[in-house]
Amino acid sequence: MCGIVGYLGHQQAVPILLEGLARLEYRGYDSAGVAVLDGNDSMIQVKKQKGKLAGLKTSSNDFCLNAVCGIGHTRWATHGRPNDVNAHPHTDCTGKFAVVHNGIIENYMALRDWLISRGHVFNSETDTEVLPHLIEELYAGDLLEAVRRAITKLQGSYAMVVLCLDEPGRLVAARHDSPLVVGLGDGENFLASDIPALLKHTRRTYILEDGEVVDLTSTEVKVFNGSGDAVEKKVFEVNWEAEQAEKNGYEHFMLKEIHEQPRALRDTLAGRINPEVGKVILNEITLDEEKLKNINKIYITACGTAYHAGLVGKHVMEKMARVPVEVDIASELRYRNPIMDKNTLVVVISQSGETADTLAAMREAKRNGAWTLAVTNVVDSSIARDADDVLYTWAGPEIAVASTKAYTTQLMAMYLLGLYMAEKRGTQNVEEAKELLIGLRELPDKIETILKNGNIIKDFAAQYCSCQSSFFIGRGLDHAVALEGALKLKEISYIHAEAYAAGELKHGTLALIVEGVPVIALATQQDIIEKMISNIKEVKARDATVLALAPEGYTGLEQVVDQVAYLPQTHSLLAPVLAVVPQQLLAYYMAVERGCEVDQPRNLAKSVTVE
Ligand code: F6R
Repeated sequence: MCGIVGYLGHQQAVPILLEGLARLEYRGYDSAGVAVLDGNDSMIQVKKQKGKLAGLKTSSNDFCLNAVCGIGHTRWATHGRPNDVNAHPHTDCTGKFAVVHNGIIENYMALRDWLISRGHVFNSETDTEVLPHLIEELYAGDLLEAVRRAITKLQGSYAMVVLCLDEPGRLVAARHDSPLVVGLGDGENFLASDIPALLKHTRRTYILEDGEVVDLTSTEVKVFNGSGDAVEKKVFEVNWEAEQAEKNGYEHFMLKEIHEQPRALRDTLAGRINPEVGKVILNEITLDEEKLKNINKIYITACGTAYHAGLVGKHVMEKMARVPVEVDIASELRYRNPIMDKNTLVVVISQSGETADTLAAMREAKRNGAWTLAVTNVVDSSIARDADDVLYTWAGPEIAVASTKAYTTQLMAMYLLGLYMAEKRGTQNVEEAKELLIGLRELPDKIETILKNGNIIKDFAAQYCSCQSSFFIGRGLDHAVALEGALKLKEISYIHAEAYAAGELKHGTLALIVEGVPVIALATQQDIIEKMISNIKEVKARDATVLALAPEGYTGLEQVVDQVAYLPQTHSLLAPVLAVVPQQLLAYYMAVERGCEVDQPRNLAKSVTVE
């Protein structure tokens, strides 16, 4: 995710901004920039470029040495590719305002059109650029007032800091669904998207809440709530060290990323659904009604966790779009001479967009004349560049090797695609589509509830962490999610874990079920829950220890299993997004109990760019 730093005080601003941004480098970024008021307050100077901070540092050697006020940004591309023009800060037509922004402005297209009709000229492809132009449009001599008016017009998420030529010695910032903190100094004050950027200068902070707006000078910090009333903020003294602060206080990136899922999923959905009419809006893809009506076969291809997301995608697309879907591991598909033609759609899923096998499978599909649609998290990655269409997942950078938020956002993309295809192909049940879209919108809150109740899982992990082997069982969609649960456990805790279609156990694997073997039983699919209970009874009869994951309100399991972790109710089709979360937590806590290197498991890499 992008990083923000703001400074106002008596020291040279540029080195402070660059050093603050360097503290946020761990989050990943593709371009960086700063904007400062030059020492005479005669103009805003901007320096920004694609690439790493080291490049920006070199080119900023004697840049505005006398500036004492400025803003800086590291960008992880979302709207628009990573290049110099799309890098932040962005400015208005007059050069009077400079803005850095994290988040996604969902209604930027409408705002952009309106601003263009008012004579504004845009340079970049970003959603962010509407902010300086909007503030320019609304400015009447008071920056705080202009920012307040601007945010009433925004939909989406933002943490932003604004610099104004006419009001030197003042920065105005606002946040909604994207973090922002104030650092309190002595004769100087700071703003940042994350605490690590502040730690060299201060440990005294204000953590801003959604809807709050900050009016900052070098000696004073005023915070207002969404209604414009002044807020008395409590100073939060940071007692973490830098490394811990990078993880926002979490012990590992994986745990942080598990907790980021509600935010990530909201971003995946942002601007893409209209539940009132049961519609998914995917303006970014060119796959239209005509092409979709001619599609008679879909392949989904990917590796590892992304492949598991594809397995859920198959259920969703077949049910909604009524097209046969095959899911193939990319390293297999690329060599098996698949039958494809111009009426085949190949959906390629890859968090990094760089996985060698997935890229090769996609190129093979293109050679065969298929239409390729990439679902990826990294803008301008090789897969994104080569695909005919791209649907970005907007999960933000994932640092832990074990994928968590990338997976749930890939699931979200599968639902969006399924619903989109159904509407275009005329196979949609409008009432069900509305129900599903409302259900999708509720998932982030439901994940928050699961995370709050994580202790059952933590206790189970503590009890069974020394096991040698474990099983994950489920039917239908639950089987697809069980595969992901088992992979998570294997890769970070090194416990052997096998996922099985519950009805298939008795054909061989049941021989491995003996006393005390932990079995994670997924029972979220209402229509086959009784069948699943029979399978659970089979493993209980062999004295396995069973942890069941089931929807709230379903009490039929308590007498059968050892423990039940309840999941908030949702449509059965959407249950994978909830059912995976306790399994991620289980893998995490087991790995911690066993003293494993959670974020960097042995033998594995985050991006697998070799075959
Ligand atoms: C497991 C994991 C991997 C990746 C796989 C594909 O937690 O992260 O299995 O899912 O290597 O990577 P991407 O999605 O980048 O193509």
